[in-house]
Amino acid sequence: MNNSIKNVLVTGASNGIGLGLTKKLLSEGIKVIAITRSGEIADFSHPNLTIIKGDISNEESIKHASEQVKNLGVTLDCLVNNAGVGLDFENEIPTAELMNATFATNTTGTVLFTEAFLNDINAGGQIVFLSTAMSLIRNLAPNAPAYRMSKAAINIYAVMLSQRLADKNIRVTPLHPGWVQTRMGGDTAPVTLEQSVNGIYKAITENTQTGKFWNIELNTVEEF
Ligand SMILES: NC(=O)c1ccc[n+]([C@@H]2O[C@H](COP(=O)([O-])OP(=O)(O)OC[C@H]3O[C@@H](n4cnc5c(N)ncnc54)[C@H](OP(=O)(O)O)[C@@H]3O)[C@@H](O)[C@H]2O)c1
Repeated sequence: MNNSIKNVLVTGASNGIGLGLTKKLLSEGIKVIAITRSGEIADFSHPNLTIIKGDISNEESIKHASEQVKNLGVTLDCLVNNAGVGLDFENEIPTAELMNATFATNTTGTVLFTEAFLNDINAGGQIVFLSTAMSLIRNLAPNAPAYRMSKAAINIYAVMLSQRLADKNIRVTPLHPGWVQTRMGGDTAPVTLEQSVNGIYKAITENTQTGKFWNIELNTVEEF
């Protein structure tokens, strides 16, 4: 067990990377507060797991989730902003509908959720954002405009937040989890859930550098 990390909050923990990471953290003796849209995780429970209902695209829901966490009387060593949607991987032309729906969760929701929990994060703690290498300038391609831009905006927010929180020694890190076999990544993705989750765990416990983009697949920092 990593002694410096005792309590972690994970958003979007009902599925995919969020669920995998929740299980990994629990297996390492870390307590997890999991945010899911239903307030449940299907067929899973654990004595060190608290599940709180939360839709990060909804301000009222964020407020309610924040109150629930405060009622637990727990402070966080790490906030993992994992909840995300990928709605336009097949599209090249941005539409208002897909832009708004994507940004509501991946950008506005993620930012507002983070702001609501800033005072709950311990000095010396960290904030992680599940970003994507698809958002990096050198990897740009015409598809997935809303998804790429929504994550690029989060990269910028992460750097700005790292500057704001430097005095509290809170590290802020956007990271690429690899192209992972999940509902979003699809069955043919080259990285297994276990590989990605182990990489994220290693990054959280050993590697993250504030204000830098961390690539789990390459196990190194990358330029934006
Ligand atoms: N898989 C990849 O290859 C890959 C690559 C790069 C980055 N990422 C990023 O990694 C993160 C996790 O992706 P994944 O592959 O695990 O996707 P996933 O299997 O589709 O899971 C996404 C999770 O986010 C939750 N979620 C979506 N919108 C939400 C909202 N408004 N409020 C609360 N929860 C919400 C989902 O909840 P429901 O179950 O209720 O839908 C689900 O638990 C995302 O941010 C994604 O952009 C993934």
